Amino acid sequence: MMALNSCFTIVAIALLFSTTFSLADTHENFVQCLYNYPYNTNSSISNVVYTRTNSSYSSILDFSIQNLRFATDTSPKPLVIVTPLVVSHIQATIICSQRYGLQIRTRSGGHDYEGLSYVAEVPFVVLDLINLRKINVDAENRTAWVQAGATIGELYYSISQKSKTLGFPAGVCPPVGTGGHFSGGGYGFLMRKYGLAADNVIDAQIIDVKGNLLDRKTMGEDLFWAIRGGGGASFGVIMAWKIKLVSVPSTVTVFRVPRTLEQNATKIIQKWQLVANKLDEGLTIRINMGRATTQNGNLTVQAQFESLYLGGVHQLISLMQKSFPELGLVREDCTEMSWIDSILYMAGFTNGQSTDVLLNRTQASGVSFFKNKADYVRDPIPVVGLQGLWPFFFEDEAQSAFVQFTPYGGRMDEISESETPFPHRAGNIFHIQYGVSWQEEGDEASQRNINWIRRLYNYLETYVSKSPRAAYLNYRDLDIGVNNNGYTSYRQASIWGRKYFNNNFHRLARVKTKVDPKNFFRNEQSIPSLVSKGRK
Ligand SMILES: Cc1cc2nc3c(=O)[nH]c(=O)nc-3n(C[C@H](O)[C@H](O)[C@H](O)COP(=O)(O)OP(=O)(O)OC[C@H]3O[C@@H](n4cnc5c(N)ncnc54)[C@H](O)[C@@H]3O)c2cc1C
Ligand SMILES: *[C@@H]1O[C@H](CO)[C@@H](O)[C@H](O)[C@H]1NC(C)=O
Ligand SMILES: *[C@@H]1O[C@H](CO)[C@@H](O)[C@H](O)[C@H]1NC(C)=O
Ligand SMILES: *[C@@H]1O[C@H](CO)[C@@H](O)[C@H](O)[C@H]1NC(C)=O
Ligand SMILES: *[C@@H]1O[C@H](CO)[C@@H](O)[C@H](O)[C@H]1NC(C)=O
Ligand SMILES: *[C@@H]1O[C@H](CO)[C@@H](O)[C@H](O)[C@H]1NC(C)=O
Ligand SMILES: *[C@@H]1O[C@H](CO)[C@@H](O)[C@H](O)[C@H]1NC(C)=O
Repeated sequence: MMALNSCFTIVAIALLFSTTFSLADTHENFVQCLYNYPYNTNSSISNVVYTRTNSSYSSILDFSIQNLRFATDTSPKPLVIVTPLVVSHIQATIICSQRYGLQIRTRSGGHDYEGLSYVAEVPFVVLDLINLRKINVDAENRTAWVQAGATIGELYYSISQKSKTLGFPAGVCPPVGTGGHFSGGGYGFLMRKYGLAADNVIDAQIIDVKGNLLDRKTMGEDLFWAIRGGGGASFGVIMAWKIKLVSVPSTVTVFRVPRTLEQNATKIIQKWQLVANKLDEGLTIRINMGRATTQNGNLTVQAQFESLYLGGVHQLISLMQKSFPELGLVREDCTEMSWIDSILYMAGFTNGQSTDVLLNRTQASGVSFFKNKADYVRDPIPVVGLQGLWPFFFEDEAQSAFVQFTPYGGRMDEISESETPFPHRAGNIFHIQYGVSWQEEGDEASQRNINWIRRLYNYLETYVSKSPRAAYLNYRDLDIGVNNNGYTSYRQASIWGRKYFNNNFHRLARVKTKVDPKNFFRNEQSIPSLVSKGRK
């Protein structure tokens, strides 16, 4: 035993030395390659390259990390971070990374649930688009160009500066980046009326593996299809999106109504499942469930019914009385406001803050360790299924856990499954997201919390979509399957690929084969090339 152990130790040290040496070498050559890359503007790349010895390296890396699970001392860190200002900086990073055998992780808003935009198990470079945040809103033509490093909060803000009756159907949390969010789908309270963010993209700029800057016309309809729901990271670096803006009324109505188990929450949720996807498409009511305490100090479950209605309160009350009286909504629960103020309300800014808070990329609640998972529901969950869910919230790990139901229907039913890579359309009543978060460091806390959510996920198997059990790319979950570090067969990748993309997975692989046959742009859940054997 002893001998074996010490032998292993020596081998490990020897390996460590040799990799360190060759990596340092690679890294110097790589940086030199960046500096030598020809550029035709006055922006020198040497102002935006951060090596590990640079005093700003850690603050730049940590700036947009949302999940502390991937920001520990043992999390792999990039050799170099590049924060491009112009196209040529991205081109140089793509070309030089290939030359020196480094992977690229492109980061826009840094919200990836599994940290794939800033962590890799192989030597890598982070291409952080923090400086590419220009937004140009053309209110007259109802379009906008948005650079991929801009957040959805910055986009909503820019639209509101130009018009009170234009909006965009994307996510709820302002610091989410448009680069990852639009390429993975992207939804919020306008989804039932207008679909996903990706459904409203009409042009894009992407830089491919050869360093070519392409737009919709030059990339062709296959690649343009793939990056609207198939994820950007498998295909290149998305530089900007052109989007179609949508109409919103000058007055919308919001409410947030809590109901505990003692207030018949189970029954109300049961009724919600029968109506939520059939309501007027201007009305979206989602449910956030979590642990709460009753007045006498007992634990209970609270379901918060959270809603945006595209119209005035009077009409909303009459709609609710007709379709969903069980909630007992009254006028006093509701507030009329502008669409942009509803964005602040849904993001939790309810103290009369100015819309400027949308420009703040620091989350008010701070960041934590978290693990989330997702499901789709095609048949209502019976009461007994809901009742079996509640005890999970009384376990220790569930202190700040949540289960969220988001209704589909409306526009989502009208778009065909193959229109974009995102296949979860007609037939889905609602989408579930589960989340658990914690503040305690260390593996033990992490394992305990992750086990809790995996047990919850196992419990729900009976009640959710099957064959395959569907998932949502933007709620990335590496539990559902991963690629090998190197060559992954199409068949192996199909295990997770069909869950995200169903029958669209094969077309995604064909597009990948055409645009990046050697599989340079790869990660734990990137689309496989059908020809490449990659790195063995
Ligand atoms: C707090 C929070 C709230 C959220 N709320 C919502 C919500 O309301 N609705 C919703 O649909 N989703 C929501 N999400 C999920 C979110 O949509 C995804 O995490 C999305 O991928 C984030 O995009 P990003 O640019 O911020 O992330 P990043 O971590 O920067 O990127 C995510 C993935 O996209 C790739 N990528 C990023 N930029 C580019 C680019 N320019 N070119 C090519 N590839 C790129 C990355 O490499 C990575 O694989 C939320 C996530 C969090 C953490
Ligand atoms: C670079 O800077 C010079 C001098 O300021 C200017 O004349 C030139 O137009 C600039 N070139 C580009 C491509 O911006
Ligand atoms: C860190 O890198 C930035 C960007 O390249 C550079 O401007 C800065 O001078 C560097 N700082 C140090 C201390 O090397
Ligand atoms: C709207 O589009 C038309 C046609 O493309 C263009 O000529 C016009 O300048 C655009 N309007 C604005 C305000 O940019
Ligand atoms: C719950 O439902 C019961 C039976 O329908 C009803 O009598 C009771 O008033 C309801 N409780 C609340 C708090 O609404
Ligand atoms: C609250 O808890 C107490 C003690 O555990 C129990 O006797 C009581 O019935 C509970 N009340 C409710 C409303 O469940
Ligand atoms: C951004 O938000 C954070 C957290 O709420 C806050 O501490 C900070 O002051 C804000 N920054 C600005 C510029 O408003």
